Amino acid sequence: MNSAAVGKIEAAEKLEFPIPAGVHAERVVSVKHYTDRLFSFRLTRPQTFRFRSGEFVMIGLPNAEKPVFRAYSIASPAWDEELEFFSIKVPDGPLTQHLQKIKPGDIVLMRQKSTGTLVNDALTPAKRLYMISTGTGIAPFASLIRDPETYDKFEQIILTHTCRDVAELAYGEELVAATREDPLIGELTEGRLFHLTSTTREPSPRMGRITALIENGTLFKWLGTEPFSPAEDRVMICGSMAMLKDVKALVEKAGLREGSNAEPADFVVERAFVG
Ligand code: A2P
Repeated sequence: MNSAAVGKIEAAEKLEFPIPAGVHAERVVSVKHYTDRLFSFRLTRPQTFRFRSGEFVMIGLPNAEKPVFRAYSIASPAWDEELEFFSIKVPDGPLTQHLQKIKPGDIVLMRQKSTGTLVNDALTPAKRLYMISTGTGIAPFASLIRDPETYDKFEQIILTHTCRDVAELAYGEELVAATREDPLIGELTEGRLFHLTSTTREPSPRMGRITALIENGTLFKWLGTEPFSPAEDRVMICGSMAMLKDVKALVEKAGLREGSNAEPADFVVERAFVG
C-alpha cells in the first residue's frame, strides 16, 4: 500500500471503508463534463507509479468493503505529474453511475499495476501510425500523441475519432489543440500529427463510421494517402467490441499482422472499457 497517500488521506478525513491492500488512494484534481454521456477527470499521481503511454489501470471508488474496479486507459502522457482519464457515464453502470459524480478533493482508488497492448513497443517502426478510435476509445491515444517516443518511431501520426454527435468530439478537439501548443511536444507535432473526426448520427462536415470510410477509401482521400499497406502503415484500434472486430478485419485484409509486446508487428487492438 502507498503509505504516503494513505497518510495524506487519513489526516484529511475519515473514510467509511478501509482502502484495500495494493491500491493507491488518489485525490480528484479536476472534473470536466462534456456531454450527458462523457466526462474526463484528473487525479494526483502516486510518486511511485510508472506506466507506458497507451496502458490502462483498474479504477474504483472507496464506497464499499469490496469496491468495483473497471479498466481505464490512462489519457495523460507518462511525463505528466497528474493522471487523466476519459470516461463514459452509464446510468446503471456499477462504477460509472457513482464515478460521474466525483468532485475535486474526492478520493479515487487505483490498482498499482498498469498494463495493455496499445503501446509503441508492440509495433515495429514505419512511416505512418494510424490511431483509430470511437467514443472513449480516444483515451489511450490522448496519452500516445503526447509521448515523444511516438514521434521518434513514426513520421506521421493520424488520429481518427468517430462519435455519434459533434459534442462528443470536443474532448479530442481540445486535446489535439493543447498538444499542438504544448511547450514539450508542440514542435514535434508540426506537419506530422493529423486529427480526423467524423460523426455518425448528427450532421457534420465529415460523416460516417470509420469502417465505411476505410472501405470506400474516403479516409485515404481526405489524407492524400494510399490505402493501408504493411510496408508503410501501423494501426492501433480502440473502441467497442463490434468496432474492434470490424476494423481488425479491414486491416487484416490489407495484410497487416497483429503485434504484441513479445512479438511487435503491424497492428494492435484494445477494447474501450465501459461499466
Ligand atoms: P453508430 O452511430 O452508427 O452506432 P458508441 O458511443 O455507441 O460506442 O459509438 C461510438 C461510435 O462508434 C459511433 O459513431 C458508432 O456509430 C460507431 N460504431 C459503432 N459500432 C461500430 C462498428 N462495428 N464499426 C465502426 N464503428 C462503429
